[in-house]
Amino acid sequence: ADTPIVLAVDTRSPGPRIDRNLFGQFAEHLGTGIYGGVWVGRDSAIPNVRGIRKDVVAALRAIKVPNVRWPGGCFADEYHWRDGIGPAKGRKVSINSNWGDAVEPNSFGTDEFFDFIDQIGSEAYVSVNLGSGTVKEAADWLAYMTADPKTTAGQERAANGHPAPYKVKYLGIGNESWGCGGSFSGDEYVALMRPFARFVRNYNPAQTGDEAMRRIAVGPGNAKLDYTEAVMKAYKDHNWAWSIEGLSLHSYTTAGWPPSYASENFDEAAYASLIKSTWDMDKLILAHAAVMDKYDPEKKVPLVVDEWGVWLKPNTGTNPGFLQQQNSMRDAIIAALNLNIFARHADRVRMANIAQMTNVLQAMILTDGPKMVLTPTYHIFKMYLPFQDATFVPLKLDAGSYTHGAVTQPRLDAIAARDTAGKLWLALTNVDPHRAARIEASVAGMTVHGARGEILTAPRFDAVNSFTSPDVVRPKPFTGVVKDGRAALVIPAKSVVVVAID
Ligand code: AHR
Repeated sequence: ADTPIVLAVDTRSPGPRIDRNLFGQFAEHLGTGIYGGVWVGRDSAIPNVRGIRKDVVAALRAIKVPNVRWPGGCFADEYHWRDGIGPAKGRKVSINSNWGDAVEPNSFGTDEFFDFIDQIGSEAYVSVNLGSGTVKEAADWLAYMTADPKTTAGQERAANGHPAPYKVKYLGIGNESWGCGGSFSGDEYVALMRPFARFVRNYNPAQTGDEAMRRIAVGPGNAKLDYTEAVMKAYKDHNWAWSIEGLSLHSYTTAGWPPSYASENFDEAAYASLIKSTWDMDKLILAHAAVMDKYDPEKKVPLVVDEWGVWLKPNTGTNPGFLQQQNSMRDAIIAALNLNIFARHADRVRMANIAQMTNVLQAMILTDGPKMVLTPTYHIFKMYLPFQDATFVPLKLDAGSYTHGAVTQPRLDAIAARDTAGKLWLALTNVDPHRAARIEASVAGMTVHGARGEILTAPRFDAVNSFTSPDVVRPKPFTGVVKDGRAALVIPAKSVVVVAID
């Protein structure tokens, strides 16, 4: 550690709420994301409750997943919900053409999804099929999920074991309609989206006010502004008959396309350049938020980053369509940086879904038959729990940069917030893989008495957790030293630290 770096927290002018929905998950019918990763079937030897694996449920409960986006992704625009309801034996078996031509048994359908989110204590974000489905098909699905059991749709749900209406908190109107969702222009999408927003209703009478269902329109992929312009312009002119309550943004950390960075055994050049491209999320949000501000200066419509994460080269020997990759200390750092960026834009970004929950891309959890391992990214989501619904607190930090070859980027990143009980928290990420950072943290108007929490680091930046060595990257206790009413924190190289300040 060299000269102390000054970090000044200012609690006098708190910022917006860091919505807990920023910590949402995305679970698509893709590879072993659902089949194997969540659903093993009632007759499986793997411990399960009604077919849903117990170990995965316990792990997800512990990170308080606020919402789960399902069933896709690209899969959503070819999903026909009727294939996935009713007696298990009669369900249609199809091919998942988007993802490795896997057989889709439809054993995990609507009722299993709601059972799953109930088991983990989460809320539903259901994406309906706009690409190859109809408004009627989607409306009928919503009736099946939300209508009173006195109706025919509600009776059908009751016959399948669930008389009480489900709660669909978030409704996705299509997915990537500029790409796999149908290759529509922004204006074409708006014309298609409006009747979905009008007629695909939530019939659950318990959902009013803050609990009302929110409709999320397809928005931009990366930097392209055409969807942001088209959808927000339409929103500005919406009338009593329709509206939207969210605009989606998809952006993956790939540093180029197709994804070519390895998820294991990589060098510092790969480490530095992939992390560098993570910072682009900030620029993207700024660019789209500027367009949104034009049409919605009151920031009523949140930007929903419902696909984000690091997308790497698939594991050797796996079906490339299954998007299976390992998850390293580097990816934990990338997760922390993204969460910090979302928190800094919490006035506009009020929901996000990492891709994806189990076994796919930047997963929380990896499974292989009965085995399960928690990834470094999982641990970040656990360490960041105090930030769910916390109030953003501004801070000043200038720690200089970290350079490798031609790649220069900020060396440190940090956010502060007050949790729902009023406690102050700091999250600090040291990107530099060589230098520890000595921080002196002061809080305006407060004498600091203690700084305690957890640290996530590893001997190497490419360290991973495997089924045979599951604890290579795991959080450990961390304590700062208090000096003259300030916290002295030594943040080791390539680490993430989350501490409560009192
Ligand atoms: O997350 C994998 C895929 O990435 C999703 O299905 C799609 O929406 C995006 O292109």
